[in-house]
Amino acid sequence: MSGDIIQLRLTVNEQEHQLAVPSSARLIDLLRDQLGLTGAKEGCGRGECGACTVLLDDQPVNACLVPAFQVQGRRVVTVEGLGRPGQLSAVQQAFVQQGAVQCGFCTPGMVVATEAMRRQGLEADEGAIRQRLSGNTCRCTGYNQIVAAARAVLQADAPEDRSPPYRVGASAWRVDAEDKVAGACRYTADIPLPNDCLHGVTVRARAVHARIVELRTEHAERLPGVVRVLTWRDVPGELHYGNAVDDQPVLARDRVRFWGEAVAVVLAESLDVARQAASLVELVTEDLPSVLSPQQALADGAPLVHEGGNLLVDQRLNKGAVGRALQGAEVVLERSYTTGAQEHLYLEPEAVLATPDHDGGVTVRAPSQNVFFDRHHVCRTLGIHRKKVRVIQQPTGAAFGGREDIYGQIHAALGVLHTGRPVRIIWTREETQVASTKRHPGTMAFRGGVDRDGRIIGLDIDVLFDTGAYASWAPNISRKALVHAAGPYALDHVSVRVRSAYTNNGISGAFRGFGAPQVVFACESFIDELAAAISMDPVELRRRNHLAVGLTTATQQLVTGSCGLQECLDRALEAAEKLRVQRAPPAPHLAHGHGVSTIFYGIGYGNAIRDIGSSVVELLADGRFQVRCGAIDYGQGLETVFTQIAGQVLGVSGAHIAVLTGDSQETPDSGSTVASRQTYVSGEAVRQASDRLRGALLAFAAERWQRPEAELRLGDGGLFAGNELLCTLAELHAAGVEAGLRLRKQARFKASTTRLDLQTGAGDAYWPYAFAVHVADVEVDLRTGRVQLLSLVAAHDVGKAINPLMVEGQITGGAAQGLGYALLEEHRWQQGVPLTRNMDTYRVPGPCDMPLIVPIIVEDPEPSGPFGAKGVGEPVLVAVAPAVANAVAHATGCRLRQLPLRPEKVLEAIQARGSDQEVTP
Ligand code: FES
Ligand code: FES
Repeated sequence: MSGDIIQLRLTVNEQEHQLAVPSSARLIDLLRDQLGLTGAKEGCGRGECGACTVLLDDQPVNACLVPAFQVQGRRVVTVEGLGRPGQLSAVQQAFVQQGAVQCGFCTPGMVVATEAMRRQGLEADEGAIRQRLSGNTCRCTGYNQIVAAARAVLQADAPEDRSPPYRVGASAWRVDAEDKVAGACRYTADIPLPNDCLHGVTVRARAVHARIVELRTEHAERLPGVVRVLTWRDVPGELHYGNAVDDQPVLARDRVRFWGEAVAVVLAESLDVARQAASLVELVTEDLPSVLSPQQALADGAPLVHEGGNLLVDQRLNKGAVGRALQGAEVVLERSYTTGAQEHLYLEPEAVLATPDHDGGVTVRAPSQNVFFDRHHVCRTLGIHRKKVRVIQQPTGAAFGGREDIYGQIHAALGVLHTGRPVRIIWTREETQVASTKRHPGTMAFRGGVDRDGRIIGLDIDVLFDTGAYASWAPNISRKALVHAAGPYALDHVSVRVRSAYTNNGISGAFRGFGAPQVVFACESFIDELAAAISMDPVELRRRNHLAVGLTTATQQLVTGSCGLQECLDRALEAAEKLRVQRAPPAPHLAHGHGVSTIFYGIGYGNAIRDIGSSVVELLADGRFQVRCGAIDYGQGLETVFTQIAGQVLGVSGAHIAVLTGDSQETPDSGSTVASRQTYVSGEAVRQASDRLRGALLAFAAERWQRPEAELRLGDGGLFAGNELLCTLAELHAAGVEAGLRLRKQARFKASTTRLDLQTGAGDAYWPYAFAVHVADVEVDLRTGRVQLLSLVAAHDVGKAINPLMVEGQITGGAAQGLGYALLEEHRWQQGVPLTRNMDTYRVPGPCDMPLIVPIIVEDPEPSGPFGAKGVGEPVLVAVAPAVANAVAHATGCRLRQLPLRPEKVLEAIQARGSDQEVTP
């Protein structure tokens, strides 16, 4: 902010204020920076996301677009003005009750937008509500629970004032929901700036592939207010880091490998000065030939992105003898499919606050998916011991895999190391868009055959991923693709090869589904094409080939225990059929079609990677139980899941359980919160630790009170023998301490998988597997090519739904992201220069884009999981695109083999249909 100072008088949340603000300030700056009202969030700064929505004279406005001078003499209401934790407004309460909150970053804006409807007396019409919310984006929920909350408010339904019990199987309210709906939840950018805090701005290269000739920082350093400009020379430890391969420099030294790569960080007394100084850093480069596709990367004589060669990963799987087997097939098809890059677009841009510790160490607060991994990277690059670095996960505005990679954490910690002062770095939406990782673009070539009876003879699959400039998780992502490419089918002959190549297109990394969405789209499309080739119903072809207990996967893994695929298929088809009979026939220019996808999804790291959940449960002096676990809740509801599991075992209500997660100093390492693994591994660790503590307490009490242990139980009021209260839980704690009893128990639970054979890919790749069947019904406008998803029936075998309301939220939210992947979303480059740099050019589904979603929860219990639970976060997204693509093919007769299915491509295919029934645009 800069410019003259203006005097403002205004009313905010019914309090009058007189403020002096820079003339360039926006309303959001005034609220957040001057009044400390951080409920309004900055997600895009462009009027696209609605996270900053407040009421201005009762009208909802985007506070990021309103100049501060325009609010002179006016009334502003923010989310904090509606209610507070413990005293929520009707709208806030409805959001809590309907499960309309996940990461919570969009929530204040959604709550305020809903409050505007309530004040204006809008009718509880679903279409009108969606329309009115269309300026607000939510990346987590899929909107349906938000719309349900708004309807409940507008119908004046009296909200419940108490959650269902925190027991396994109950739709208990999220434990963090009250803070989130009230705007009281503090994300990293909401933390009050510590005294003396420096602002960091990253200087980014504007070259796709270039040699760095010179980096001049003198002009920037001379600007008053600049404290330091960091370059690669200031990195005292290892310059390179990485998840799977240490190939990425903290700051580029001699080469730029993608447009937007970080080359320097300016640290200054104010953000304005830091930004100005960043523009004064001079980067002189000499362009090198760039590599813009993985095919080009692997061509003879291609320029090298890294000296070791462009081929980063080459993995293989072989079962049977597919080449020979296909000679006996009735029909053999060859098809190729492609998918684009998808951006996570979590609403909270990357942010980090690093502060110096008294012992010369540093504490880093940031949204994260693994505080221990972040600590590891910070320690190695700063060259300091891990005892000197503490990483704390702040409430996180979603992640979806994107926060598995480090971003500003090292830069901010480096700033602390060199200045001894706190450092805050907040990326703009454009920085997030150009510099964070994306889903790997992929090309999947399938060759496969089937006999007349619908037995799939074999599949021969070749996958090529674009990993971009640095490896991130490419080897692990490729392995997931390797295992899932042949789908949930029991085939005798399978061959899969997955390669991943370096290019100069940004960086590809982890994203919900982790390599599976690309290959599953291809596989499930191919299954439909095989069925069409032998004139068989594609569902029937799936029925004749899918996995079941006692059969083996492509990695020769025997399926045992939980496998609810058949039930998913039966229930999804039945539900979809019921919807279809109620549907009116389409107008002549519209075509209806439906499509099915059948998937399996390996939970956890797989491949014998150390996959351990760990938890400590302790009885505190105040009589509450504390559950500690190093896992991360970034919106999926893990803290609530832990509360329910511990509540079930210990017999107490949610109010008696405190959960602490994501602190590298205070919680045990429970691995990354990825791969849909935490409910399974950490949930089981919480269950076991709770059970051990309960057992120890009851054994102690039996002796202390001389009662049979079988008569004793823990409960909210305390320790009981039958209905007789023996003591409160606080008294039990005191008695235990006096007797020297250890009141803390730890448990670790390890998922068991085996390392895949390097030649054949054979092994117990993952365990457990989740299963799902989606049925998509679409309407295609034959004049425009526009595809509308009418309904999506999503049946998921989750083993056991610890919290059905939250499982439904995961299904709806994953469906929205899958819908985006299928129809809308593609991060694009032109000659390596990113084109989609904000939410106006990278569009994600809004409230009006969502179809009717019918979530079906199938519970085929997994014996090794907590109360039978497996996982659900990622499989949902994986199953959407192939079901939609198959539905479009059914509606139009045109098979599109490229995601996303943009209208122009669909129209091109329809127009070419007359001359060729099978069109690949
Ligand atoms: Fe204001 Fe996105 S931050 S609309
Ligand atoms: Fe809406 Fe996360 S809950 S963006």
